[in-house]
Amino acid sequence: IYGEKRRNSRGVNLNVRSHYEPLVKAMSGFMERSYEVGPLLAFDVERIAGNVHEVFSPYDRRQRVGSVQWTSRDQAARAVDAAWAAFPRWEATPVAERAAIIRRLGDLMEENLAELMTLCSREGGKLLTDGVDEIREAVDFCRYYAMRAEEQFGEPLELPGPTGESNRLMLSGKGVFAAISPWNFPVAIFCGQVVAAAVAGNSVLAKPAEQTSIVAHRVIELLHEAGMPRDVVQLLPGDGPTVGSVLTSDPRITGVAFTGGTDTAQIINRALAARENAPLPALVAETGGMNALIVDSTALPEQVVADVIQSAYQSAGQRCSALRVLYLQEDVADRVIEILRGAMDELHVGDPRDLGTDVGPVIDEDARKNLLAHIEQLKGEGRLLAETRLDPAHTAHGTFVPPVAFSIDAIDALEREQFGPVLHVVRYKASEIEQVLDSINARGYGLTFGVHSRNESFAQLVAQKIRVGNVYINRNIIGAVVGVQPFGGQGLSGTGPKAGGPHYLLRFATEKTVTVNT
Ligand code: SER
Repeated sequence: IYGEKRRNSRGVNLNVRSHYEPLVKAMSGFMERSYEVGPLLAFDVERIAGNVHEVFSPYDRRQRVGSVQWTSRDQAARAVDAAWAAFPRWEATPVAERAAIIRRLGDLMEENLAELMTLCSREGGKLLTDGVDEIREAVDFCRYYAMRAEEQFGEPLELPGPTGESNRLMLSGKGVFAAISPWNFPVAIFCGQVVAAAVAGNSVLAKPAEQTSIVAHRVIELLHEAGMPRDVVQLLPGDGPTVGSVLTSDPRITGVAFTGGTDTAQIINRALAARENAPLPALVAETGGMNALIVDSTALPEQVVADVIQSAYQSAGQRCSALRVLYLQEDVADRVIEILRGAMDELHVGDPRDLGTDVGPVIDEDARKNLLAHIEQLKGEGRLLAETRLDPAHTAHGTFVPPVAFSIDAIDALEREQFGPVLHVVRYKASEIEQVLDSINARGYGLTFGVHSRNESFAQLVAQKIRVGNVYINRNIIGAVVGVQPFGGQGLSGTGPKAGGPHYLLRFATEKTVTVNT
C-alpha cells in the first residue's frame, strides 16, 4: 500500500522566491475575475432570477467574488433520476478507466493551482500556505483513491474452497451517493468525498457548502474535463433545507458522505432512517471535535507553544482537527502560558493573501457573531489568559476574530465545539491524570488528541487510553497527510471512516461473494 507507486504530491514551497513569485503572478490573473456559476447537472439548467446568491470575500465584505445559482427542488429531484439511471453503466465501467479519470483530475488541479488557490482565498478566506496544502491534499486524494480502487476493485479476491466449491469476493459500487461537504476544506474534503464515491463505482450528487460553491464548481468543471460523464458526477449548489433535504429523503440515495457539524449529521441520519422502502443507508460522516492536548511536566515549553499556536490558530482554528482544550500540568502551566502570551502578541491577523499574515478571517458573519458571543461570555467571567490584538487597518472590513486563550475548569464547561481561533486551558495536577482522560472520553467526541511529554511510557499510556481517531505525540495535532495519517474520528466525531486511509473505499462499496459448485 505504501510502496513506490505511492508518492504524495510536491506542492509549492512559498519560502522559495522562484516558486512563490510565478505563483503569485499567476494568481493575480484571477483576483478580479467575477464568477457567475450554477448547478452542473446531467441536463442543461437555465439561470432563474431570485435563486441567485451573491458571494463576497470573508477578508473584505465589499469585494465581490461572483454569484451562485442555487439548485431548485425540482432540479435536484431530476438530478437524482439521472444519477440513478447512470449508475449501472458507470459501475460496469472498468475500474482502470474510472481511476484514469480521477488521476486526470489530480493533474488538472495541479495545472490550475493558481486559480484554485485564488478561489480558496477569495471565497474561503484561506491563507496562501493553507491554499497550497489544500490543493495538494486534494491531488493526493485523487491519486491515492485511484490507486486503491485499482488494487481493491480490479480482480476478485480468490478465497479458500474447502468444500470443493470455488469462492470469490468482489467489490462494486453501492448506487447513488450524496456528498455533502464543508467550507473549511472546500477543495480537499469536497474532492476527497466525490472521488472516493465515484472511483468506487457510484454515481454522485455533490452538494458543496453554501459558502464555497464557486471553487467547488471549478473542481467539478475540471472533473468533467477529465472525462467524468456529466450524469455520473453532478454538482448541486444550494442550502441544506432545500437541496440537502431532497437528497436525504429520496429512497434511491444509497449512501451519504458528510463532513460538517455533529448536529447536521444527526439530522441527515434521521432523514435517511425515516425513508420508507429505502435501502438501509451507508452514512460516512466526519463531524466535530473537542480536541485536547495534554502537557506533562517533562514537556519542552517552547515546543509545546509552537505546536499549540499551529494547532489552535492555523486556518483561524477552522479545522475539525484543531486544538480546543489544552491541559497543562501545574508545574509547567505558568511557564507555558507566559510563552504562549508572547507568541500570541506576535501573530498577525489580516488579509490571507499577504504572506506575512498568520491568521485570516473566519468564514462569515454568523461564525464571527457566534465566536464573539462565546469570547464575550468568557471575558465577562474574567477568564482571559491571552489575546492577539486586531489592527483595524487590516481587519475592519472582514469577518475577523482575535485569537484568544481562556482558562476553564474542565472540558465539561464547554457546551459545544467553538469552530474558530479560541483555545481553552485547563490546569491539572499529576495525580488527576486518570480523571482528565476519563472526562475527555466521557465528553463523547473522538477526533484528534495530542500529548507532549518526554516520558515515553506516559505518552504511550495516555495515547492508548484515549478514545479518538488520531493521536499525535510531541507535535501539532493538525494536517493529517493522505496515505500516511488516515484521518477520521469516532463517537460524536463521526462514523469512523479514515479519509486517506487504505480502507476508506470499502465504505462506498458492496462486497459480493460468488460461490461456484465446480
Ligand atoms: N484533515 C484535516 C487535518 O488533519 C482536518 O480537518 O487537519
